[in-house]
Amino acid sequence: MQIQSKLPNVGTTIFTVMSGLASELNAVNLGQGFPDYPMSEELIEHVNEAMKKGFNQYVPMQGYMPLREAIAEKISFLYRTNADAQTQITITPGGTYAIYTALTTILQPKDEVIVFEPAYDSYIPNIEVNGAKAVRIDLKFPDYSIDWDEVRRKLSAKTRVIMLNSPHNPTGAVLRENDIKELRSVVRDTNIIIVSDEVYEHLIFDNIPHQSILRYPDLMERSFVCFSFGKVYHCTGWKLGYCITSPQLMIEFRKVHQFNCFSCNSPAQVGLASYLKNKESYLSLPSFMQKKRDYFQELMKKTKFTPLPSYGSYFQVYKYENISDEADKDFAIRITKEYGVATIPVSAFYQEGTDHKTVRFCFAKKEETLQIAVERLMKIK
Ligand SMILES: Cc1ncc(COP(=O)(O)O)c(C=O)c1O
Repeated sequence: MQIQSKLPNVGTTIFTVMSGLASELNAVNLGQGFPDYPMSEELIEHVNEAMKKGFNQYVPMQGYMPLREAIAEKISFLYRTNADAQTQITITPGGTYAIYTALTTILQPKDEVIVFEPAYDSYIPNIEVNGAKAVRIDLKFPDYSIDWDEVRRKLSAKTRVIMLNSPHNPTGAVLRENDIKELRSVVRDTNIIIVSDEVYEHLIFDNIPHQSILRYPDLMERSFVCFSFGKVYHCTGWKLGYCITSPQLMIEFRKVHQFNCFSCNSPAQVGLASYLKNKESYLSLPSFMQKKRDYFQELMKKTKFTPLPSYGSYFQVYKYENISDEADKDFAIRITKEYGVATIPVSAFYQEGTDHKTVRFCFAKKEETLQIAVERLMKIK
């Protein structure tokens, strides 16, 4: 059978290669972004209870209403923003799906989307499968900040979307107040939509406030803001998230969503609705993850790797200039094979494979996992 590929340039990614290699060689996997420690027992109990109480059939297409209400309450408490549970919040099967649905809702063939690289790997295929074009802009190395002048230069009459991601995968960079100011000035008097990937929402460190687009009503009305329960509550396998936007944009989002997955896992939604009532469930997250970052950084001081700062997410990027000048992919594969620690080469997050000789480590792991990994990394001369 002959078909014309919609994504001719997509092949097996380095993520699959590194994870395959990690399991084949029994290496410590600090490559892929998932926790290896247990999630909250309390949340598990809420979900078990929901199943036992019979919440095992479809919930509405928009999501279980008490969960949407709990999200609205949380947003009002955290960001002083009102989002209507009925018309502005939709539960989705994960953050990636929310992003895909948002892009599919908006994009027409030949539209342009500003994407900052390094970028989470789903964005560009999501854009291209819709017949649109990614206009790539490198974040400034080594602090991975946005060059807003370059954004202005790359805008065109076809620019339809600006993709944002804060806290940022793979770098741990976060948006600052000044970025919001610049963003405002860039989109003012345009028809540009913002798709804001905030799946690492609570995983932000050093008391830096999360610059959620939800804080800014003027930006929110032109934005799809995407979240992930899996990422923040240490249950990536649940694949549950949500999207928040204006009532007008949400009508269109739901048209795409309702004929794709229609509705998401019911007991998990019911359990989360109860769990979110306790503010500690999310207020405790920044310090929980910061401890892991700090612990990992402290251990890594005993190695020859040089850190770049991480202010949020699960990740930290390290340079290996004191060890080797190999290409980052070769280096990552070699240390997995020779030292038994899998990482992700940061060039994998650039379409053109830009290589600053850095690798990404995931520190959302048990202390003992981080310890074993670093003991192995210390042997690298
Ligand atoms: C930046 C970013 N967005 C979205 C996701 C995916 O979230 P989910 O598992 O909820 O689809 C990830 C997961 O790695 C991510 O790093």
